[in-house]
Amino acid sequence: MIFQEKYDSYKAMIEARLAQFFPGEGLDEVMRYSLLAGGKRIRPVLTLAFCVAAGGEAEAALDFACAVEMLHTYSLIHDDLPCMDNDDLRRGKPTCHRVYGETAAVLAGDALQAAAFNTALRSKGFVRPDTPMIAAQILAEAAGPQGMCLGQYWDTIGKDAPEGLQKLTEIDDRKTGDLLRAACGMGVVAAIGSVKGVDPNCIKVSMDYAGDLGLAFQIKDDLLDVTSTAEVLGKPIGSDAQQGKVTYVTLVGAEECQRAVERYTTQAKESLAGASWAGGTQFLLELADSLILREK
Ligand code: IPE
Ligand code: IPE
Ligand code: MG
Ligand code: MG
Ligand code: MG
Repeated sequence: MIFQEKYDSYKAMIEARLAQFFPGEGLDEVMRYSLLAGGKRIRPVLTLAFCVAAGGEAEAALDFACAVEMLHTYSLIHDDLPCMDNDDLRRGKPTCHRVYGETAAVLAGDALQAAAFNTALRSKGFVRPDTPMIAAQILAEAAGPQGMCLGQYWDTIGKDAPEGLQKLTEIDDRKTGDLLRAACGMGVVAAIGSVKGVDPNCIKVSMDYAGDLGLAFQIKDDLLDVTSTAEVLGKPIGSDAQQGKVTYVTLVGAEECQRAVERYTTQAKESLAGASWAGGTQFLLELADSLILREK
């Protein structure tokens, strides 16, 4: 199957499963508004793809993938709040707090975060009974005070401090890299016990890949904030400048940004050679490449 067809089929699986959560009115509706607004679904696709690469079946990782996307969506709802990036547009629609108000948006984010852990912990069908617990632990470490929340704290609270490239890279690695690490690692964890057998190096290597991919992804995100349009991106452009953010673009300029994206992508792909993959790495290599020239 060619890359885009595979991506679309993973994405369709994820969309269908996500649509089964939060069927009610009120808070459920607020959560659904952001969760089903049509993001790229890169993180959950990575979860399924790493499960398959490690030798498992995509279905085994489906609820882990949904957990990652719930957590990501919560981070976006909160990231857009007036106390953070103060943005009005997300995934091509008015931001959650614009439609439902700040209180509902804060609570929808909180609830999505709790639901993410519940979804991971209740996932069934694994050979090893501790698999959901291991996955939830990976997610907690990536999302929490040493991970994404710390990155978001530095990014917002510390945004007026003069930052060098090294500090900025650390911020990007926490706020964006860590959740990608969890997405990839949880996919490998879902494959453990599968008939093909999982190389124990796959977990660490999946996270090495994710770390470099995360830096490439955030640098590209910073670049698109300057070079794209709101129509294409589905979120406002110029948001970083408006917030006075120090980004890769402000530090090294647009051309060097694109080179850095390519450099980190190459590193991400190279790191896959550090493990043996029963299900192959072709899709993961092509996914990394596809993000270099992404337009949204
Ligand atoms: C946006 O993530 C937040 C960043 C870490 C840059 P995505 O670009 O993956 O957003 P969606 O999920 O496609 O909306
Ligand atoms: C956000 O980075 C990272 C998150 C953890 C949500 P940005 O603030 O650059 O993401 P966008 O541009 O709003 O999607
Ligand atoms: Mg932000
Ligand atoms: Mg933002
Ligand atoms: Mg951004």
